[in-house]
Amino acid sequence: MNDKVYIFDTTLRDGEQVPGCQLNTREKIEVALALEELGVDIIEAGFPISSPGDFASIVEISKAVSEPVICALTRAKKEDIDVAVESLKFAKRKRIHTGIGASDMHIKHKFNSTREDVLERGVWAVQYAKQFVEDIEFYAEDAGRADLPFLAQMVEAVIAAGATVVNIPDTTGYTLPWDYGQKIKYLRENVKNIDKAIISVHCHNDLGLATANSIAGVMNGARQIECTINGIGERAGNTSLEEVVMIMKSHKELDLNTGINSKRIYPVSRLVSRLMRMRVQPNKAIVGDNAFAHSSGIHQDGFLKHRETYEVIDPHDVGVDNSKIVLTARSGRAALKHRMENLGYFISKEELDEIYKDYLVLADEVKVVNDDHLGVLYQKIETKKEK
Ligand code: KIV
Ligand code: ZN
Repeated sequence: MNDKVYIFDTTLRDGEQVPGCQLNTREKIEVALALEELGVDIIEAGFPISSPGDFASIVEISKAVSEPVICALTRAKKEDIDVAVESLKFAKRKRIHTGIGASDMHIKHKFNSTREDVLERGVWAVQYAKQFVEDIEFYAEDAGRADLPFLAQMVEAVIAAGATVVNIPDTTGYTLPWDYGQKIKYLRENVKNIDKAIISVHCHNDLGLATANSIAGVMNGARQIECTINGIGERAGNTSLEEVVMIMKSHKELDLNTGINSKRIYPVSRLVSRLMRMRVQPNKAIVGDNAFAHSSGIHQDGFLKHRETYEVIDPHDVGVDNSKIVLTARSGRAALKHRMENLGYFISKEELDEIYKDYLVLADEVKVVNDDHLGVLYQKIETKKEK
């Protein structure tokens, strides 16, 4: 099987649904260009029928971006698809992402309908969109909780109708990784002509499983991951682009590759955080402030002897300048000496022992010791020497 996994970025659609994170057209273009430089394969630029602003942004992104496919989301409705076709008219490469609920929960409570009816509407939407755009992705919403044989029937029918990509969303983030992987495997083994389409995974993070589920999906044959920068998105968010990309890059044994230029990950993460006014949690994998920070003495000592004792990825690989040694009351002499020497403060072993006592008292008080504090500690030793 081909080892290339397509990265479908939905920061500007599912990500932008986060309350308070809406961007204007100029900001969306800035993000889209940054995503292009990052190397994403598909940019889901918005849901054009939702507002005139979203429509205009898709038009402008289509003009500005050359390489990635530009995708527009629709429901399985004629008016949505017509508007999406119009919004994509300047895109060099375009895709329509249409679909409908697949779980009984959605069929009954959202649509007050039947399996037969939603299947028919899904097939109709693919056939209708296909008249205007060649590349059609179909989403079977809430596939994670859908009846599996029915899901397989739906996927088979939309592929026959012309879908080029079939998206199997875990819309509510409920599925366990093993189970999600098995669903993808089942579809690969039971859907006629499944090889005519790419299987896509779209996972939400309600139980903190979005990344694990996406990886389970590609390990079982999916070849597209839908994700967002910093994992932003509805409720607890979507799969984090940076996490899935770095998992595939680090675990060579998976034999899965993406076209992402990982060195652009951190700059794009900062850009999205700044424009969306949404802080990244400090302990966020890959892009959080503490992702490459070492603060306890045992870790600092090991890290200073060999970086890989406590780091599985090189920060430079994701565009972070350097790992951080944070000086706290849990730090040891090795870290203190290292930082002092970086600042040009060379001291003997005896002086280090002496400074370390003052350092611990200070660290208990200030929590994080900074370079100015170290200057004061060093000055104390120097003054003593001069006397
Ligand atoms: O979570 C979901 O099911 C979605 C679809 C619209 C693809 O975002
Ligand atoms: Zn979603």
